Parts: sequence; C-alpha cells; structure tokens
Amino acid sequence: MFIIRQFAETDLDDIISLWEICDLTRPWNSPEIDIFRKVAQKDDLFLVAVKDNELIATLMGGYDGHRGWLNYLAVDPHVQRNGIATALIQQLEKRLIALGCPKLQLLVRKDNIDIQSFAEQLGYEEDEVVCFGKRLISD
Ligand SMILES: CC(C)(COP(=O)(O)OP(=O)(O)OC[C@H]1O[C@@H](n2cnc3c(N)ncnc32)[C@H](O)[C@@H]1OP(=O)(O)O)[C@@H](O)C(=O)NCCC(=O)NCCS
Repeated sequence: MFIIRQFAETDLDDIISLWEICDLTRPWNSPEIDIFRKVAQKDDLFLVAVKDNELIATLMGGYDGHRGWLNYLAVDPHVQRNGIATALIQQLEKRLIALGCPKLQLLVRKDNIDIQSFAEQLGYEEDEVVCFGKRLISD
C-alpha cells in the first residue's frame, strides 16, 4: 500500500533522484529551482506517493485560473504498472475540480510514446495544438 500526500521540504533529494532515474531532468532546467518555484506558489498541488517511508512517485500539478497542468509525473521503475500514477492523477483531478478548474492538460515530449497510452486510458485526448515556448529566466 502507498499513501499520497503533499510535498514536504525533506522530500527534496529523493524527488530529484527519482526524476533523474525517470529521465525527467534536463540540463536547462534546475530541478531544485523548479521545486522552490513550485513551493512558492503555495497551491498544495505538488503531490508525492510514499510506500514504507520511501518516496516512490511525484506529480506536480498546477492551475493558472484557466487550465490545470500536469508536470513531473514520475513513478519509480520498480513499482510501475501498479496504478500509482493513476491514483496520483485522480487525486489531483479531485483537487482541481474543487478549485473550479475546467480542463487539465498534459504536455508530452513527442518521443515519449509510453505516456501516450497511459494518458489515453485515463481519458486524455490529443489536442490539435503546437506548443511554443520562450525562456524568460535562465537557470
Ligand atoms: C508513465 C508513468 C508515470 C506511468 O506510471 P504507472 O504508475 O506505471 O502507471 P499506472 O500503473 O497508473 O498505469 C495505468 C495504465 O496506463 C497504461 N500504461 C502505463 N505505463 C505504460 C507504458 N509504459 N506503456 C504502455 N502503457 C502504459 C497501462 O494501460 C496501465 O494499465 P495496466 O498496467 O493495467 O496495463 C511511468 O511509466 C513513469 O514514471 N515513466 C517515466 C517518466 C515519464 O515518462 N513521465 C511522464 C512525463 S510527461
């Protein structure tokens, strides 16, 4: 069994290790700074899953007042395919509905095919959009 709770400051190192194992870190994004920025939002949407006192999964949710966002979804490879990501997303969906968020979005790298099957079976449909990004602050 695992529990889902909000991020705590003591999770920092475990989270970064998990993101590295799951290949979610990129040279142009500092994971520490990403976490500090998220915590500063104080929105209680940064969730983790814990099993036997070990951090096994993360989901950094967000709501910008128009759309909800899913970021940094990661499950320890040793415990994947046990419904942990599904449970995290369902928990986030509940919290976002309570905030009045009408739609939740997930940005996926084009080469990440696995996540596409995962998202589709959770009821997420591919939107016909192209995402443009502009860096405002270099980490
Ligand atoms: C994608 C990821 C979060 C899924 O986590 P998970 O806890 O294993 O997912 P769940 O157990 O809730 O999966 C539910 C269903 O999604 C589908 N699914 C999950 N992982 C899949 C995969 N690798 N390939 C195909 N389908 C997959 C399956 O239908 C699965 O149900 P099943 O196990 O009964 O067949 C996990 O593989 C992961 O952390 N990957 C690396 C990081 C990553 O790519 N994150 C997403 C960035 S956008």
